Amino acid sequence: MIKCALISGRGMGLRHGRNFANHPDAELVAVCDMDPTLLDKAKEEFGVPGYASLDDLLANCDAELMLLITNETRRIDPLRQLIAAGRHVFTEKPLCGMEGQYRVREEDAPIAWPAIKEWRDSGLKFGIDYNYRFFTHFRKLHDDAVDGRLGEIRMVRARAHFNCWSHVIDQILWTMGLPEWVRCIGDPSEDGGWQRMIQMRWASGVAGALDGSMGWGFDDHPLRIMICGTESYAEARGLDGWYRRGKANAWKQEDEELWEGESEGEWGQYEASFPRMADGVIQAMREDKPFPADGEAAWNELLFEAAVHRSAMRDGERVCLADIEADAAKG
Ligand SMILES: NC(=O)c1ccc[n+]([C@@H]2O[C@H](COP(=O)([O-])OP(=O)(O)OC[C@H]3O[C@@H](n4cnc5c(N)ncnc54)[C@H](O)[C@@H]3O)[C@@H](O)[C@H]2O)c1
Repeated sequence: MIKCALISGRGMGLRHGRNFANHPDAELVAVCDMDPTLLDKAKEEFGVPGYASLDDLLANCDAELMLLITNETRRIDPLRQLIAAGRHVFTEKPLCGMEGQYRVREEDAPIAWPAIKEWRDSGLKFGIDYNYRFFTHFRKLHDDAVDGRLGEIRMVRARAHFNCWSHVIDQILWTMGLPEWVRCIGDPSEDGGWQRMIQMRWASGVAGALDGSMGWGFDDHPLRIMICGTESYAEARGLDGWYRRGKANAWKQEDEELWEGESEGEWGQYEASFPRMADGVIQAMREDKPFPADGEAAWNELLFEAAVHRSAMRDGERVCLADIEADAAKG
């Protein structure tokens, strides 16, 4: 049995806590929250000891896997503390955003960098909850692109509502790897999720575009990702789930594959994707493999977001992701 401890007595924390507690190969052995009311409720729900601080948790609990479900404004210090204490960590996305998840900035990369460096040196497992990887239609898009069913990939085109922002970036990077550079039109001084029109290019010459806005809602798919190859192109849409692969440059619609998650409702496999991720994490622990989305994926999203922010601040200048990483490492 993999012993887990949950840090957070709030909604998202409880959701993860339940999924790990219910997993046949895992047990939840402790909870931790600095808020005494939430801590009491979590202790009662899981029937385990509770601690008001990470220091107390680490001193009294030998759980090997820590579920650190705090938010992006307060993730890095506890993550570093847990890694220094030799514990494996699963956390939420994005890795760091001191102004919140809709406003990840260039300044967030150097804040997160020491945690990534320490994790890489530690040999521990660290992973992040890009749970959209466990939706059938997103998995189909990934597999078709990576397994060559689209031919040679030429173009990526995506858009998302900011509620899905970390995930749409992860989807692109999961399949395509990090682009060489990005450029972005947008005004980061706009409140909240400032609208972004992003272009990117990979070293292979593949071109990509990603737009982010609060302007469209969940009524017309909160995210869409299309990948075009020399043989076929494919698109995955929404949380309710829709996937189509068709012949490239066809004049008449010819579905090579059409998948609709019609029986699963408006939120599709959203609920199911969390226990699937928990299962992936526990399997990785048992088999001594990296987590389904590991610290490199977390860091790549942050590098991408930091580069987008720098470009928007510089009126659409082209920004190389390698420069962002080098500057983050300088501190
Ligand atoms: N994967 C998804 O689809 C999805 C969906 C919604 C939200 N999220 C993510 O989930 C996260 C939710 O975070 P939140 O807003 O609930 O977190 P939060 O920062 O409010 O923390 C949750 C709880 O942890 C406690 N806490 C925080 N730091 C602590 C510390 N150092 N020691 C002890 N207790 C501590 C707080 O008191 C709080 O009760 C966000 O990052 C969000 O982006 C992901």
